[in-house]
Amino acid sequence: MAPTIHILNGPNLNRLGKREPQLYGTLTLADIEKKARKRAAAHGFEIVFRQSNHEGQLVDWLHEAADSVGVVLNAGAYTHTSVALHDAVRTIDAPVIEVHLTNVFAREDFRHHSMISPVAKGVICGFAADSYLLAIDGLAQLKAAAQERK
Ligand code: DQA
Repeated sequence: MAPTIHILNGPNLNRLGKREPQLYGTLTLADIEKKARKRAAAHGFEIVFRQSNHEGQLVDWLHEAADSVGVVLNAGAYTHTSVALHDAVRTIDAPVIEVHLTNVFAREDFRHHSMISPVAKGVICGFAADSYLLAIDGLAQLKAAAQERK
């Protein structure tokens, strides 16, 4: 089986396309999944692409991704609040790239703090759907660097 990347999406991201398009654009989550699959395939990766509005479900999916190539995580609003997601990221060996469609630092103060960033391998925000693609490229780069060290 090809190496796998898990792309996990949190609350309200199922509403992309309809949700505040002036902020989040008009692409749906299915559109982002299509782009992500194409980019992942170019690196020889399979992807598991999921969305949930429930914190515990995201914790379970992080655990499932423990031994994968890596995780691209847009935890939505849970980014700013969730000790459970922070802890879940700490329990897994796979590198986690935190992503956001918007530049959270250019938005309300409550979005400037992330529970994920201190335990993430890296953070990408502000590039709309391309944030996901850049994160996939980053995971490919990490994998290549790890192989070179062997
Ligand atoms: C978001 C930013 C979060 O602050 C917000 O709660 C979201 C989406 C983004 O992708 O820009 O739901 O993660």
